[in-house]
Amino acid sequence: MSSINDPAVLFQGTTLEGPEIDRVTRTLGDLTDVFSDKDALAAMAADQKVYDVACYFPVADGTTAGLFFGITYIYPGKVGTEYFMTRGHFHQLRDRGEFYHCLEGEGMLILMDEDRQTRAEKMYPGSLHYIPGHTAHRTANTGNSMLVFSAFWPSDAGHDYQSISEKGFSGILVEQNGEPVLASK
Ligand code: PA5
Ligand code: NI
Repeated sequence: MSSINDPAVLFQGTTLEGPEIDRVTRTLGDLTDVFSDKDALAAMAADQKVYDVACYFPVADGTTAGLFFGITYIYPGKVGTEYFMTRGHFHQLRDRGEFYHCLEGEGMLILMDEDRQTRAEKMYPGSLHYIPGHTAHRTANTGNSMLVFSAFWPSDAGHDYQSISEKGFSGILVEQNGEPVLASK
């Protein structure tokens, strides 16, 4: 017996649609431990959106040898001089890698290894980024429009937000003279 089916999910342009898509929005109020300039943060609206994520999880979280797919949409903006960015995480299973592929906008992928060495890669439409295992990753929107990228990662990777929430990254991405600069924290 054979069958021909419609796909469960459509990914067209920058839009991920289907009944099985999980969506989450992070606001400034969710990210109070993330941005450095607490005074600037306190002066901004807590319900200001910073990023949305749409994910397709075809298998249960933690499944060995499965894959996950997600799109992240980061709004343009800054808290003080620091660009809007994602919370950032190591994978819980530290050796798990990930691909990011930039679809739209302008940004920076910030990477930190377990010795807390931080570096950044420019993101622009078409840029493909391999994130090796043992590497914390977060993305910042350095442009004036939405930054949109896709991500592919193993379904058993998990997210460790705790270590970043406690110690942050060793470098922060700030605007200096109109340019993004990776400054030590
Ligand atoms: O899997 C990933 O690394 C991404 O899909 C991120 O989860 C997404 O960009 C949001 O970032 P964070 O999970 O750090 O909030
Ligand atoms: Ni990840």
